[in-house]
Amino acid sequence: MTTTGGRAPAIHVQGLEKSYKKLSVLRGVDFDVAPGSIFALLGSNGAGKTTVVNILSTLLRADAGTATVNGFDVAANGAEVRESISLTGQFAAVDEILTGRENLALVARLRRVQDPGRVADELLERFSLTDAGGRRTATYSGGMRRRLDIAMSLVGNPPVIFLDEPTTGLDPQARLEVWDAVRELAGRGTTVLLTTQHLEEAEHLADRIAILHEGRIIVNGTLDELRRLLPPAKVEYVEKQPTLEDIFFALVGGGPENGGPANSGGPENGDENTPGDRGARTTTKEQR
Ligand SMILES: Nc1ncnc2c1ncn2[C@@H]1O[C@H](COP(=O)(O)OP(=O)(O)O)[C@@H](O)[C@H]1O
Ligand SMILES: [Mg+2]
Repeated sequence: MTTTGGRAPAIHVQGLEKSYKKLSVLRGVDFDVAPGSIFALLGSNGAGKTTVVNILSTLLRADAGTATVNGFDVAANGAEVRESISLTGQFAAVDEILTGRENLALVARLRRVQDPGRVADELLERFSLTDAGGRRTATYSGGMRRRLDIAMSLVGNPPVIFLDEPTTGLDPQARLEVWDAVRELAGRGTTVLLTTQHLEEAEHLADRIAILHEGRIIVNGTLDELRRLLPPAKVEYVEKQPTLEDIFFALVGGGPENGGPANSGGPENGDENTPGDRGARTTTKEQR
């Protein structure tokens, strides 16, 4: 299957394996990411998402398999890979004592970018942080902090960026702000590989979604392709496309009905959403 529209993939992963002592985490992971696209690596907690990202960003060595990023082999050309990427982890890496602008300018100086002040101002503007740029980041909201973190990762314009669970721990409003920031990245041609446990995040942001489960990619496709894996929704009350949540739990088992990880916290009002009534189920879609 062509996954990159004929162009050389920005990220190419084949047969990746990794164990931590006896724990076999990756058991032959394959996927390609097209340049300029947003690719979501979706998986439960502990599925191995961070392990994949760490191998691709040369922080960790694979036991077997190959991976290239921006055309460079992660094992043989680590320096070139590191020059091609930036990595934003789950915890924002901003310095709280400094202002947003100072954080950006510091990174720009560390990366020996010309005119750090100008680069900082441009990035503040791009991520709607101009007004906050002069304030210490200790005063920022979670969403602003994460946006600044993403802005910092863009200093020097790396062609490939890894966002490891960029919205974990953020409230819904902040999550939307980060989604906008991610779309803004890909809109300018940056290739984005993001990991997430949030099905909605993948559903809203990604051009392609791959589900990592028990050490392998069990499906990889566009949301429409993933939807076609399930039979059409049974129409009882309201016809509705299966959500990514439906597809995910159909593939990996478990789910809100039978004790798996539910992503809707509170009790549902009313009884119209009976178990198995996929056609009419409403999932938590706050803040579209
Ligand atoms: N350095 C390590 N040593 C031992 N086990 C690890 C290490 N890093 C991760 N693991 C284990 O490997 C599995 C996958 O971890 P990780 O890649 O962080 O998953 P995810 O990011 O999908 O939550 C987990 O069971 C985790 O506990
Ligand atoms: Mg992780």
